[in-house]
Formats: sequence, structure tokens, C-alpha cells
Amino acid sequence: MRIVMIGSGYVGLVSGACLADFGHHITCVDKSVEKIDALERGEVPIFEPGLDTIIAQNRAAGRLDFSKDLAAPVASADVVFIAVGTPSRRGDGHADLTYVYAAAREIAAAVEGFTVVVTKSTVPVGTGDELERIFRDEFPDKDISVVSNPEFLREGAAITDFKRPDRIVLGTEEPRAIEVMREVYRPLYLNEAPLYFCERRTSELIKYAANAFLAMKITFINEIADLCEQIGADVQKVAKGIGMDKRIGDKFLHAGPGYGGSCFPKDTLALVKTAQDYDSPMRLIETTVAINDNRKRAMGRKVIAACDGTVRGKKIAILGLTFKPNTDDMRDAPSITIVQALLDGGADVHVYDPEGMDAAREVLGPVVYGRDPYEIADGADAVVLITEWDEFRALDFKRLKTLVSQPVLVDLRNIYPIAEVTRHGFSYFAVGKKSGS
Ligand SMILES: NC(=O)c1ccc[n+]([C@@H]2O[C@H](COP(=O)([O-])OP(=O)(O)OC[C@H]3O[C@@H](n4cnc5c(N)ncnc54)[C@H](O)[C@@H]3O)[C@@H](O)[C@H]2O)c1
Repeated sequence: MRIVMIGSGYVGLVSGACLADFGHHITCVDKSVEKIDALERGEVPIFEPGLDTIIAQNRAAGRLDFSKDLAAPVASADVVFIAVGTPSRRGDGHADLTYVYAAAREIAAAVEGFTVVVTKSTVPVGTGDELERIFRDEFPDKDISVVSNPEFLREGAAITDFKRPDRIVLGTEEPRAIEVMREVYRPLYLNEAPLYFCERRTSELIKYAANAFLAMKITFINEIADLCEQIGADVQKVAKGIGMDKRIGDKFLHAGPGYGGSCFPKDTLALVKTAQDYDSPMRLIETTVAINDNRKRAMGRKVIAACDGTVRGKKIAILGLTFKPNTDDMRDAPSITIVQALLDGGADVHVYDPEGMDAAREVLGPVVYGRDPYEIADGADAVVLITEWDEFRALDFKRLKTLVSQPVLVDLRNIYPIAEVTRHGFSYFAVGKKSGS
């Protein structure tokens, strides 16, 4: 099968590389000249574990190529995926569909013969209908079927998630498109991934409902964590205790600094806006969004409290900046708000992240970038762990103790047992469990 992926970002590149690995012929298109030039030089513009190997192998096998121009590959394609960004629209929080519609018009102009156009980008309910209208009205001679196929991969585990998904949601009722999409995902039959066909509007909503539910689950445990701190309970044990109930499940019950990333913040907001437009407000999600926004700033205050109420003139060492480990993605990372709160409080902020430093430079204010945890901890009045990268899980506390000015560890991911930290003379501040020294 010949497949074109429009947009070669986190989703497009992973999906394209994995589909090539399944034996299809894939062209990944992007309008970013730097991105395509880098890919053609054999460089991978994002950090995603294992992606570089799959790309290299499939390029060598002649199944994967890259292009700045979509016309030629689209003309000979059976399927064209749209995997461009759908960020929050400035001002009202709706999903900004500018890139989707621009890509769709370019695709329609280039297609020849029956072609399935698939929205893999996260798009609000009704976007597929609007694409269909655009194709029908503006390109009446073209034979295009529009399918919704939302992506559920997680950055940092994207390849496994793409190749072993819990389900593949496909929104279409057109028999020709159903046949084509079965062929695209045929290699996944072996992995027993269920193909779940439904109406297109239902498929579009499934993606938002899934993300909103997960965001709500995180927010729920974060509020339980706050209560734990007041009443002297341990949120990790509460999470374990409720997670053993299969009706609840143990995933997405890790208390922390609030959700961030390229999906949950914008998708929860977009769902709220859609629901309001249809006069069917989603108060649970509205509240989730508000609680999560407040939480990031509250984490800044938590650090300040751990520093005896002020960070003015104090050196704060931040470990981990990306919104989660194993990615270089800084979009809506909680670290951005926390660092800003500390800068506002007059702190001298030093930061380190294993993969996110380049992206961080574009979004963080005046901070100092270090090369490892120990360099930034030198002379620090507090060490604050924001992202739970593996390399922070076995810090050498003996060495840290000799470097810091004040032995204070604020662990916003609860990765350490209190005893391990206090044994080395540190004061330990966690989320939703006992702090102490
Ligand atoms: N990142 C994730 O974990 C994730 C997971 C599931 C779904 N999604 C959804 O997938 C979509 C893409 O997300 P992403 O994180 O990959 O975004 P991204 O910003 O990393 O990549 C989008 C790419 O599309 C390119 N682009 C935009 N318009 C184009 C055009 N007309 N022609 C060619 N290229 C074009 C951009 O240059 C960019 O490289 C979004 O709707 C997002 O919500 C993302």
C-alpha cells in the first residue's frame, strides 16, 4: 500500500515509521524544510526512544521516504493521513484547525483516483463532515472518502503504543473506506489489536472523551493528594488501594504537579468549548481544567514553602523539565509555570533535563542551564524534582549533600521513600504523603 503522512511531528513520524515497518510504503511529508532536510540527512528531529532505528531500517529497505512537497506522493497514494498540529486557538481555546484545512485542500488538489483521507490529528466532532463538504464543494471531480482514526500513542512509549495498541478506532461507514483501512492495519491482526469501527463523529468524540477522562483521573488523585497532606494519609497507598479495584484500574493515579504535554491541556479545553457550543456543558471537565491550571502555580508555592517561605536570592536546582520522561516535548509542561513562579519570587533558577534543554530554551525565562544534576545542585538552597527521568531515580545523596547549600529535596513525582532521603540529612517534601527531615 502507498501511504502518505502529512505532518512529520511526534505522531506523523512515529506512525509513518511504524507503518513502514509493517511493510507499507510511506512518504512522510512536512512543510518544515529544516525537519525534512534533517530527516534526509538521517537525523531524527524529535527524541522518541527507538524511533531512529526504525527510521534508518525502513529507509534502507526503501519503504520510507521524506518530502517537502505533497503533490507527487499524494497523487499515487491509496491513503493520506493528516497528522498536522491542532493547537489551542489563541483567545478561545477551541482547536485551531487552520493546518488541517490547509493540508486537506492541498491533498484534494493532488489526489488522483479513489483516495482515503484520514484524520489522525485530534479534531473536534464535525471536522470530518466539514472536510467532506470542502472536498464535495471545492473539488467535485475528486473521489475522496474521509475517515477519522484518532491516535492514542503516548510520547516516550510511542512505538510500542502504535504497534500494540489497545484498540484502533476507525470512524467511517463507507464500505470502500472500511476495506482500505482494514488493509492499512492488517499487520496488526497478528498483535490482536481490535479494529473498532464506528460513525465518524463518534470516533472524533472518543479521542476527546478518552483524554478528558484520563486528565480527570490525574486531577482526582491530585486532589486526594492534597487531602492526604492535610489528614496525614499517603496518596501512593490510597492510589494502590483503589487501583486494585478493576473497575478503577491502577493507571493514571500518580499524584504530581498536574498534567501537561501536547494533548491533555489543549484537548480538555477544546472539549469544554465544543460542549458549550452545543449547549451541553461538561462541568466535570471545566473543573478539571481549572484545578489543573491552579495546581501548577500551587507547586511553585509548595517549593517556596519548603524554602521557609521565600526564594528571593536563593538558588533553586530543577531536575527535569519535559512534561514527562523519555521525550523532549516541553509543550505545556508544568515546569514552565513552576519555574516562572520561582522566578517571580526572586529565585536564581538552575535547570537540567536529559533531553529537553533545547526545547526548554524556547519557553523558559532567564534560567541557567546545567549539564547534570550535581552541577546545578552545587550551592543550591533546594533541589526540586519535576520530571521523573530514570537518571534521577538513583541520585547520589551523599554527594549531593556535600554540594548543596541547604539540604532540601522537593520531590513532585514521589519517586523516593522519605527514609532514603532523610537518612542523608535532607528535608524531604513530597506530594500527598509524609514530608519530614
Ligand atoms: N503528541 C502526541 O503524543 C499525540 C498523541 C495523540 C494525538 N496527537 C495529535 O496529533 C496531531 C499532531 O500532533 P504532534 O504532536 O505530532 O504535532 P507536531 O507539532 O509535533 O507535528 C505537526 C507537524 O505538522 C507539520 N505541518 C503542519 N501543516 C502542514 C502541512 N500543511 N503540510 C505538511 N506538514 C504540515 C508541522 O510542520 C509539524 O512538523 C495533533 O492533533 C495532536 O493533538 C498527538
